[in-house]
Amino acid sequence: MKRIAVMTSGGDSPGMNAAIRAVVRTGLEYGVEVYGIRQGYSGMLAGDFNLLTSVEVSGILQRGGTILQTARNDEFKTPAGQKKGLRRLNEQGIEGLVVIGGDGSLRGALALHKLGLPVIGVPGSIDNDIDGTNTSIGVDSALNTIVESLDRIRDTASSHTRAFVIEVMGRNCGYLAIISSILGGAEIVSTPEREMSMEEIATSLADAYVRGKSHAIAVIAEGVSYETNDLVNFLKQKTDVGFDIRVTILGHLQRGGSPSAFDRLLATRMGVKALESLRAGESGMMVALNDRDMTTIPIEQAIKKTKEINPSYYELARILSR
Ligand code: ADP
Ligand code: F6P
Repeated sequence: MKRIAVMTSGGDSPGMNAAIRAVVRTGLEYGVEVYGIRQGYSGMLAGDFNLLTSVEVSGILQRGGTILQTARNDEFKTPAGQKKGLRRLNEQGIEGLVVIGGDGSLRGALALHKLGLPVIGVPGSIDNDIDGTNTSIGVDSALNTIVESLDRIRDTASSHTRAFVIEVMGRNCGYLAIISSILGGAEIVSTPEREMSMEEIATSLADAYVRGKSHAIAVIAEGVSYETNDLVNFLKQKTDVGFDIRVTILGHLQRGGSPSAFDRLLATRMGVKALESLRAGESGMMVALNDRDMTTIPIEQAIKKTKEINPSYYELARILSR
């Protein structure tokens, strides 16, 4: 294998650049040219490919986002779009592909594998929703950002005897919400997997008030069935909650920022493993962290279902919010 391509796709996550760098530098080690595809599958369909040299990936290890940029593309979801993508890759003499992204991007990677192109996926998503790997690139950095935000909010909340509703990301998965609620000392957490009703949230905040707490925090995952602003309006009408209510939607600040030490190491190891797996003749596989080892698992297995949250975390959150 003499020429491969690497791309980032779907939602960006901190550490994607470290993974790109690792793919390119490992390519140099083995005499494999690495082309960067810009803007995910959109760039693939447009034939937007450029050779990545060592210098081009220099100074990006600590940078959030992705130097290759990312995109969402509906055409690539169609069989015709996928064949067009393969044609563009063939035109450039690309013999293998590394796709760094979330479950949607991995589905695209699997489609190309089924068309005969050697493809390796790398899990990159802050949500920690990709199954078969302990974690994905960006999860740790996003958690650190959320926990730091919760700490800051608690400072102002306790100064005013206020309760805050904090919405965190996670379209289908409450991992960021449950873990940040434990690490940020929240009173209650509501996730798509274990949704708390508005009434239950009100009761929990009212309990904290009666117990004499100077603040209370409810962490709400973006993917729950009600709108955060509807919850806030509900809580404001409940006079027995005691606290003055405020809301913060953390939004996309959770996705940006410099990757943590953990994510830099994870992304570096995953990028190296992706190139090595391609060279070893693997395809249709995703790089996965399994305990301490970097392994590969079939993409088909990784995308079959959303990664489940360890149920013990809910118990931990409940006990520690007393
Ligand atoms: P993420 O990779 O973060 O989950 P998306 O779900 O938006 O983000 O997927 C990113 C891109 O991957 C989509 O815009 C599309 O181009 C491609 N993709 C998603 N699902 C499929 C699919 N079932 N088949 C082929 N390509 C897909
Ligand atoms: O997939 C990661 C994620 O951060 C989700 O939690 C969130 O719903 C989504 O991306 C938002 O992405 P965008 O604003 O790019 O559509």
